[in-house]
Amino acid sequence: MTDVNAASDRGNRLLRALLRMPVDMTPVWLMRQAGRYLPEYRALRAAAGSFLAMCQTPELACEVTLQPVRRFSVDAAILFSDILTIPDAMGLGLSFVEGEGPRFQRPIRDRHDVAGLRAPDPTVGLHYVLDTVSRVRRELAGLCPLIGFSGSPWTLATYMVEGQASEDFRRIKGLLFTDPATLATLLAVLVEAVTSYLNAQIEAGAQAVMIFDTWGGSLAAHHFLRYSRDPMAAIISNLNRRRDGARVPVVVFTKGGGCWLQALVETGCDAVGIDWTTSLAAARAATRGEVALQGNLDPMALYAPPERLKAEVQAVLADFGEGQGHIFNLGHGVRPDVDPDQVGLCIDAVHAASVRSHP
Ligand code: CP3
Repeated sequence: MTDVNAASDRGNRLLRALLRMPVDMTPVWLMRQAGRYLPEYRALRAAAGSFLAMCQTPELACEVTLQPVRRFSVDAAILFSDILTIPDAMGLGLSFVEGEGPRFQRPIRDRHDVAGLRAPDPTVGLHYVLDTVSRVRRELAGLCPLIGFSGSPWTLATYMVEGQASEDFRRIKGLLFTDPATLATLLAVLVEAVTSYLNAQIEAGAQAVMIFDTWGGSLAAHHFLRYSRDPMAAIISNLNRRRDGARVPVVVFTKGGGCWLQALVETGCDAVGIDWTTSLAAARAATRGEVALQGNLDPMALYAPPERLKAEVQAVLADFGEGQGHIFNLGHGVRPDVDPDQVGLCIDAVHAASVRSHP
């Protein structure tokens, strides 16, 4: 059982802050903290042969999850996997093309494709992820908590319909305007898939879960509520929020969602991820202290001279201000060519600049 009563160590800072409880210093972890910018990741990936092979081999996925935890004093591990494992388990045929990102061999284009889709049983098609979760928990032995994750239904649907990354979302928006009932059916299958997937991760030992809504910000405001926010709310209302006597907090991150923060609070989440285009002070006012906030250093600040990077870290902390409920993170993922020393400097600067004498 996670002891969240003592405020001061790497073991429980994150969970306490997500529940807006006092902490000795601001917890920090970074999106994509495991990845290509780390030489130890590149070495393991070369040995494994591919990114997907690494995700699907629990021993390797566990090792990669732990790499940033060993190298830096981050306050959380995030499961090493990908949001696209769900559509892969649905039979879409995922591959990663070097330099081009994800591709699906069998994208979803019309109502006939959607009619053939079923939410996968995570204990069958995604058992490798669950094996990784339990392995990581065992290896961490309480050093810091483990965050599980999934993509949001809208974000998963964009990749499934486009078949790859897209700039204009022409195909999925085409579906939205010409056959909204089919889009609604697709999202309903994904709500079921994500709900059982996240519950299975929680069952396997994930101590917090995050929903990545990377492409929610591509939608018009009224479409966002219907096609992205509501499906996330449906998932959250069916998650098992207690495990081993501890609350399992839920974080929702809509990139580009700064103008819809109150709508995101209404999903029933415990925390909202904020990208760097929204001020944390404004986000705090908009969410009225009802949720914790996670963010929001501009990922490009990791390329700044060290002193300037420290100043930017301090600016993020000052923007949130006094009080509980801040988890430091980037506004999006660490980029593959960042200097790992800059990441270490950023993490240490968060802790140094946020120590509180009386937690
Ligand atoms: O944050 C972490 O350290 C945990 C691992 C994680 C990965 N992907 C590993 C990964 C997480 C949480 C994700 C989520 C994810 N995957 C999202 C949502 C968050 C976001 O970044 O917006 C999305 C949209 C994806 C889909 C995806 N996976 C894309 C577009 C790509 C290609 C990007 C690229 O840089 O080539 C991936 C591959 C991927 N997922 C890598 C990693 C470390 C790079 C794989 C490699 O080449 O080694």
